[in-house]
Amino acid sequence: MLKQKNLIFVGAPGAGKGTFSALLLERHPMAHISTGDILRDEVKRDTELGREAAKLMKEGKLVPDEVIAGMVRERLAQPDCDNGFILDGFPRTIRQAELLEEALSSLGRKLDRVVYFKVDDDVILKRLTARLNCRKCGKIYNKLFMPPKVENVCDDCGSELFQRPDDSLETAKSRLEVFYRQTSPLIDYYRKQGLMLEITETDKDKICAVLAAELE
Ligand code: AP5
Repeated sequence: MLKQKNLIFVGAPGAGKGTFSALLLERHPMAHISTGDILRDEVKRDTELGREAAKLMKEGKLVPDEVIAGMVRERLAQPDCDNGFILDGFPRTIRQAELLEEALSSLGRKLDRVVYFKVDDDVILKRLTARLNCRKCGKIYNKLFMPPKVENVCDDCGSELFQRPDDSLETAKSRLEVFYRQTSPLIDYYRKQGLMLEITETDKDKICAVLAAELE
């Protein structure tokens, strides 16, 4: 029997938030709210916010709290969130967590779990610099750990794969530094609220089993 859950996925860049959101969504119809994806879409559409965000993302810096929280609030008001949701990459600061609480309480929703993907820094940097994404469907691959069947071609839709501009070694290091400085205080914040599920496994099947146990 499927449980309806409202989850946050938190972790350093490259910890696996997007990969395991996609794997969970294959079996569980819930809303996936990735603030990184929302911002990349703004960049692609060349909106004012997209142009502003592109500069910050290229430097590995965070978009202002109020801007991102406003976007998430709008998204959480959509009816598909009634089936449960995964917040992937949000909140990223204590201020964002407070704004999220305000939004959830005004929408009559609540959080069930915060899943923290804990991965060593050397693994993170290897993963980020070898990551590939599908240009069309967004599927995530890795040259070293999760390669496509045919080099540079998406297994699912046959489109070309590309490397995200913020996955250079230099930007990956800045993003990691931003994670420790601005996002890691959230770990204690949610631990104190008794919401934390910490995943230290790196094996894909074992992680899927832990996540499935949360929902089934
Ligand atoms: P965002 O897109 O959210 O990036 P991120 O948090 O840095 O996370 P990533 O997408 O890089 O990594 P991931 O954890 O999803 O890992 P993945 O599954 O791809 O944000 C980008 C930017 O937008 C930010 O820098 C910021 O500027 C801005 N932004 C976004 N949200 C914001 C917010 N709330 N506030 C302010 N600004 C915000 O996996 C990585 C690689 O590892 C892949 O190649 C994958 O195949 C591989 N992999 C994953 N898991 C495993 C495993 N277990 N074993 C082997 N390989 C694995």
